[in-house]
Amino acid sequence: MKAHQITDSVYAIHADIHTDARFEGIWPIPNGVTLNSYVVKGEKTALIDLAKDWAGSIGQFDQQLASAGTSFEEIDYLVLNHLEPDHTAFLIELRRRNPKAQIVSTPKGIALVKNFFKITDNLREVKTGDTLDLGKDTVLEFFETPNIHWPETMMTFDRKNGILFSCDGFGSYGALGERIFDDEFTAEEHAFFEHESLRYYANIVASFSSFVNKALDKLGALPVKVIAPSHGIIWRKNPAEIVSRYAKYAGYNTGTAPCEKEICVVWGSMYGYTRAGLEAVLDGIRAEGVPFTIHQVPDTDASFVLADAYKAAGLVLAMPTYEYKMFPPMAHILDLFERKHFTGKKVLRLGSWGWVGGAKKEYEERIASFKWTSVESVEWQGVPSQADLSLLTERGRELARLIKEN
Ligand SMILES: Cc1cc2nc3c(=O)[nH]c(=O)nc-3n(C[C@H](O)[C@H](O)[C@H](O)COP(=O)(O)O)c2cc1C
Ligand SMILES: [Fe+2]
Ligand SMILES: [Fe+2]
Repeated sequence: MKAHQITDSVYAIHADIHTDARFEGIWPIPNGVTLNSYVVKGEKTALIDLAKDWAGSIGQFDQQLASAGTSFEEIDYLVLNHLEPDHTAFLIELRRRNPKAQIVSTPKGIALVKNFFKITDNLREVKTGDTLDLGKDTVLEFFETPNIHWPETMMTFDRKNGILFSCDGFGSYGALGERIFDDEFTAEEHAFFEHESLRYYANIVASFSSFVNKALDKLGALPVKVIAPSHGIIWRKNPAEIVSRYAKYAGYNTGTAPCEKEICVVWGSMYGYTRAGLEAVLDGIRAEGVPFTIHQVPDTDASFVLADAYKAAGLVLAMPTYEYKMFPPMAHILDLFERKHFTGKKVLRLGSWGWVGGAKKEYEERIASFKWTSVESVEWQGVPSQADLSLLTERGRELARLIKEN
């Protein structure tokens, strides 16, 4: 595979990863993921970010560097926007082959280089506004963007070419294949990647939305022509698209943008009694014409539940009582909602119990700090009665109306 040329002097090194291994060891990537690194050439050559040695990508890396007219041995600067191991796997190898290459990162990034790799020399700390002159009018400028999504993260801007190397920011799941630029994909393909970028955001960035808002403010004044992230599509035709998408995502849990007028239904049931009650709720939602997605737990991996729940203004959470508490897979989902700061939702909770219940109490304690608006929840013993079903339909309608009104 050859490097992709972005301009006369800038290349993307691109690896498609298809693996059963999970992203961050948690999130499934059935559609793969890409790893992008970049070469910027002036008189000196900078390599921006590395890759993870998934799927033997070191071989691809060497080949693509060669096709960009360079090699590990010829790199003058290694810019590390982020020290997560998906962007540093070849660091020791690069140092071994080229001890002269200076490693450039934020002070916190350099501290991690020292701690993770025991590398102590030829390091350069950079802060917001610092620059690195590569010659031939090519200057890299650095912007600290802390907590997107690690504390040491920064973005690098090539002012001459207007390229923002944003590392994990503006990234997405989904392997790209031979095409890597936004103008090379159809509308249908973009719709697919849009969902993968939402899932990526909900899984790994959502906890840090307030920092995304700060970074968007900081970067807003830059004359960006191309957004070049470390995962996913390179935006050269319409970079505003991914920026506005991220602004929307960051707004879903900080209140700077509204959630979508839709409902995400998450349910679990041992013997179908809760499911029977849920059907009546869905009738009510349908009657009000509000769109909904529906996921059964634990069958659907939490990664996908998070994506749909994150963007939805409304949630329906349906689970029975299990050992005096909530059905455990739902407790796991609520735990993730809390960790990822899923605030501001409108929610209906329902479920069946057998002898004394317990799910309701645990649920209410669990969500007390969530800043959610709740429709009165519905519980029943065993199989739902006709009266239960009517009430459930009415509560489903109530939730749907709340979503429509806002
Ligand atoms: C392993 C297990 C634990 C349960 N624990 C409780 C409990 O602590 N309190 C209770 O009221 N019912 C308990 N039940 C009964 C269920 O909550 C009840 O059968 C309910 O109707 C199941 O709904 P479902 O078909 O949607 O799973 C338990 C059932 C099972 C199988
Ligand atoms: Fe990362
Ligand atoms: Fe990453």
